[in-house]
Amino acid sequence: MASSQASVFGLKDSSLIKQQAFIDGKWLDANSGETISVTNPATREVLGTVPEMGLAETKQAIDAAAKAFPSWSATTAKHRHDTLMKLFALMNHHHDDLSRIITLENGKILAEGKGENTYSASFIEWFAEEAVRTYGEQIPSPLPGVRNVVIKQPVGVVSILTPWNFPSAMITRKLGAALAAGCTAVIKPPPETPFSCLALVELARRAGVPDGVINVVTTQKNVGEVGKEMCESKIVKKVSFTGSTAVAKLLAGMSASTLKKVSIEAGGNAPFIVFNDADMDQAVSAAILCKFRGTGQTCVCANRIYVQSAVYAEFASRLAEKVSQFKIGNGLDESTTHGPLIHDRAAEKVQAHIADAVSLGAQVLVGGTTVEGTSFFNPTILSDVPANARLNNEETFGPLAALTKFESEEEVIKLANDTDVGLAGYFFSRDIGRVWRVAEKLEVGMVGVNTGLLSQAVIPFGGIKESGLGREGGHGIDEYMNTKLIVFGGLA
Ligand code: SIN
Repeated sequence: MASSQASVFGLKDSSLIKQQAFIDGKWLDANSGETISVTNPATREVLGTVPEMGLAETKQAIDAAAKAFPSWSATTAKHRHDTLMKLFALMNHHHDDLSRIITLENGKILAEGKGENTYSASFIEWFAEEAVRTYGEQIPSPLPGVRNVVIKQPVGVVSILTPWNFPSAMITRKLGAALAAGCTAVIKPPPETPFSCLALVELARRAGVPDGVINVVTTQKNVGEVGKEMCESKIVKKVSFTGSTAVAKLLAGMSASTLKKVSIEAGGNAPFIVFNDADMDQAVSAAILCKFRGTGQTCVCANRIYVQSAVYAEFASRLAEKVSQFKIGNGLDESTTHGPLIHDRAAEKVQAHIADAVSLGAQVLVGGTTVEGTSFFNPTILSDVPANARLNNEETFGPLAALTKFESEEEVIKLANDTDVGLAGYFFSRDIGRVWRVAEKLEVGMVGVNTGLLSQAVIPFGGIKESGLGREGGHGIDEYMNTKLIVFGGLA
């Protein structure tokens, strides 16, 4: 990349900025020569371009991954551990630069960019440690002279499709597991935030990951043909996707043509419940974190906040006081507490959810408007949101805290579960009986009790219902391995 463009990022190591895709160890332009412009959502400044690739380059990337698979899968687990630990060390060494890239292309504030790089690196460290623990088992047989042994083997070439809300961490959560297991990968990063992905791949190359083991195809307008090939190719043995439920269903349908293994982390519509006996300081701080992390653009953000009647007024006024103090702006400015939304469409959706709820009787306590001509949205609190409001059935993915009053535990469980998705749910109570009851009854894959933050590399991250399939982090390396049974007969 021309140094004048790299300087837009203001990095210590400007060679981390790559404006080409990466196939078989080579940095490449699109066959067509076409490019995609990447802009900073806070300033609308063009940060650079990446290639607009298509079907031919996707096939090339899949072939490269297939060619690299026999030798990468034959390396020892210790070798893969050591290589991933080198990548982990490089991610820490380049922490400032990688955090800055995240902030510039996604818009989140620098403190969150730093938080994301740390979170992202933790997946590499975790899966390095998992690489050496992909144990099989020996199962005693009821048959004489027979021994049953189970081994784990890498599935092969993996397609990885990731979203813009965590430009780095959603890649390492998948790629770390794939590489540790011995798989090779083709990644399609989002067109909004490709530079974090490309910087990670450059660091993986420096860490000694061989040519062809990781390939990156960048695309925007050709996403249909690229995504189809990544899901339908017979060479690809697994698809891992994080993004919307609508796209997840499309990709799962395409992957079904070859009955591929699929991991999906799709949309959420998280309930956040505050009972009368909650610790109010804890509940208010957790709501701020859970609702407004990444300016409300995470799949595990609270989408519906239910507060029991005796504490409703207090909770609403304490939340409003804190949210009124937020300062939206450029994420590089230290005084900024919240960045912009990723693009104007995102701000329009928040506005539409507010208009719909208000038309049904909700009241605006704080905010409620966009900042004209930008994708900044003033952090908003709505009170008395009725059950039939659109936002109760659709993830807002923005800085909108929607409060609804409830009377009883039974009523709120019913409201919380009245949705097709089930990723995360949160509640606040100090009654141990209620804690168990509610945790068991919420129809979600992950429950936060007296906390608004679940995310860690060590946990089984994922949802139920239409929020996805499989689990990432934790023992997620299993999703990248086949279980093989070997029965030995004729033994004494
Ligand atoms: C997501 O928004 O998809 C992931 C959030 C997280 O890992 O905390």
